[in-house]
Amino acid sequence: MRILIKNARIVDPSQGIDIKGNILIDRGRIAGIGETVKDKDAEIIDAKGKITAPGLVDMHAHLREPGREEQETIESGLRAAVAGGFTTVCAMPNTSPPCDCQAQVKFLYEKAREARTANLLPIGTITRGRQGKEISEMLELKEAGCVAVSDDGDPVESSMLMRKALEYASMAGLVVISHCEDRSLGGDGVMHEGYWSTVLGLAPVPAEAESIMVDRDTQLAELAGASIHIAHVSTGKSIEIIRNAKKKGIRVTAEAAPHHFTLKDEDLRTYDTNLKVNPPLCSAEDIEALKKGLKDGTIDAIATDHAPHLENEKEKEFDYAPSGMIGLETALSLSAMELVEKGYLDWPGLIKKMSTNPCQILGYERGTLKQGAVADIVIIDPEKEWVYEKKQIKSLSSNSPFIGRKMKAGVTDVIVGGRVVVREGAILDA
Ligand code: DOR
Ligand code: ZN
Repeated sequence: MRILIKNARIVDPSQGIDIKGNILIDRGRIAGIGETVKDKDAEIIDAKGKITAPGLVDMHAHLREPGREEQETIESGLRAAVAGGFTTVCAMPNTSPPCDCQAQVKFLYEKAREARTANLLPIGTITRGRQGKEISEMLELKEAGCVAVSDDGDPVESSMLMRKALEYASMAGLVVISHCEDRSLGGDGVMHEGYWSTVLGLAPVPAEAESIMVDRDTQLAELAGASIHIAHVSTGKSIEIIRNAKKKGIRVTAEAAPHHFTLKDEDLRTYDTNLKVNPPLCSAEDIEALKKGLKDGTIDAIATDHAPHLENEKEKEFDYAPSGMIGLETALSLSAMELVEKGYLDWPGLIKKMSTNPCQILGYERGTLKQGAVADIVIIDPEKEWVYEKKQIKSLSSNSPFIGRKMKAGVTDVIVGGRVVVREGAILDA
């Protein structure tokens, strides 16, 4: 089956193109791209007025299976992903049991194949059982198909262990994704330390709880001669450290989550537990630093940190509620509104952060519309106005503070491996 996407604004940062034209898809791959490409027998998708780009790739999502299937499953998480324009999602390993062996990795691939929506790339643990004591079997994880390792949700406290992890991962060809948090400094804190933590009377976490670990980990990457990826960067202090490390030639990359550059500590005035995330929402100055870091390339990628939690788990006092919010279905619109509309990035710049760069960091041969590439494609209507409503949520959890919010820009069609998975905003059954 051939598909011809017509009259598109084709944005593909991997080839540095932003042109008007057509894309032909044949047997799951890009068969042609350009103004003169046509095929009178192909199924037509008219993309006039829309942006056609490589499918979005989320480097950081929690899909909860195995262990907490009432919060999310691979199937529901991948449905949420395609609804949000993602054609590939990396699954964080803080499941029960954690993804630390080949059998677990195989299980995830199997579930994703059955789901027939987005692609899934498993992330293995840095330490066995996420216990922070011994390094996982990294070569085995790589062999089974992991792209990265992370103990995300918890920091790797021991510097010695982190050094070893960086050395082994680098030999195995795995990216280390670091959750930077100095727990001895953050203590029982639940929100960013500053004016608002004092006003609201919530236990504070200083910005340094993140930046001290970012500093440690970039230094360890240099010592190990390895590369490192910093997860969910939230503070101006961390960005400064990453910017300087990059200048020194240390191989560090970083991601930011849409909630961290959209929401601030002051928003916690409502005590809405859906705003409780780890790292916590920061100050207006931190947000400005994040956006500038995205603009100047200090922050390479936008990742969701999609973290489903049930309503009854979130309906607790702020101190006791779990951290995290869902994000797969809102990431593109929030990023477009905060970054493109406000002039920090243009559309090619945004696609780079949400597709090209994540693929490059992971060594994943997608995120491109080059002839011959696997046809993972998203079509975006940049003018689409919509309201994020609870009833439309594909995730099994609905812990989002954005419910009821007016959104701008949205996904209309998604193609995965040459198969239309979302058509005019609706997920097609496999
Ligand atoms: O807010 C968060 N939620 N941050 C994390 O690091 C973990 C995540 C989760 O798994 O719920
Ligand atoms: Zn996470």
